Amino acid sequence: MEKKRQPIGVFDSGAGGLSVLKELVRLMPEEDFIYYGDSLNAPYGVKPLEEVRQLTYACAEHLLERGVKEIIIACNTATSAACKIMRGMYPDLPLVGIEPAVKPAAQNHRGEKVAVMATPLTLHEEKFKQLVKRYEDQAVIIPVPCPDLVEYVEKGILEGPELEGYLKDVLTPCLQEGIKAVVLGCTHFPLVKSAIGKVVGESVRIYDGGEGTARQAKCLLAAKNLCTDQEKGHICFESSAPEKEAYYEALYRKAAHIDSRVKL
Ligand code: SIN
Repeated sequence: MEKKRQPIGVFDSGAGGLSVLKELVRLMPEEDFIYYGDSLNAPYGVKPLEEVRQLTYACAEHLLERGVKEIIIACNTATSAACKIMRGMYPDLPLVGIEPAVKPAAQNHRGEKVAVMATPLTLHEEKFKQLVKRYEDQAVIIPVPCPDLVEYVEKGILEGPELEGYLKDVLTPCLQEGIKAVVLGCTHFPLVKSAIGKVVGESVRIYDGGEGTARQAKCLLAAKNLCTDQEKGHICFESSAPEKEAYYEALYRKAAHIDSRVKL
């Protein structure tokens, strides 16, 4: 197959990367996508670093075997753990990672407090420490580890009193400190954005990194002259836990506001 017509590969520890896929498809509806979720091994964010690295490499290998022309690591934890190493492993592959949207939040909330919700591993890694260093003169950045939130999304709990109770527990301390913004530093979290919005209230602005990642993915493809010449793309949902594939598709339709009868 001509390289331009090869699909773009997107992967995550599970369903979270669908929040990034939505932005990718919005920006590049003509491209074909293969979405791969490693739900069998989710969550990544509470696992040892080396284990997350090995799982991340396995996801990338799966997509490369499927013949993708670009890979998007739509998982903050996997990006923090392995993106830099993977650039060395695949020097010719267009590879895009994701990082918490601290930059726009810090720029829009100068001198104010900004919370970053993410997995314990993301917050512990060097990538996040560097991000804090870069923007700490603009805003006060407060890390908020959310070790269990990924599992709510994986189980399909996207709203309701149990989820809101958990969110209140993790967010109350920083709300008491007077935060003005929340950065969603895990791709699972935009899928529960309305529950987070309910807990933080309308005066706290919510940021996520999906749109910026999609723009970067498009730029990289264009720079390598790899954008497709077809008119309409389609999406294929795959998982290490195949019983989850229907859930991914349903969740994607919900996140992207697509009628369930429309052919993807
Ligand atoms: C996880 O699997 O624990 C998190 C995924 C992410 O950080 O985006």
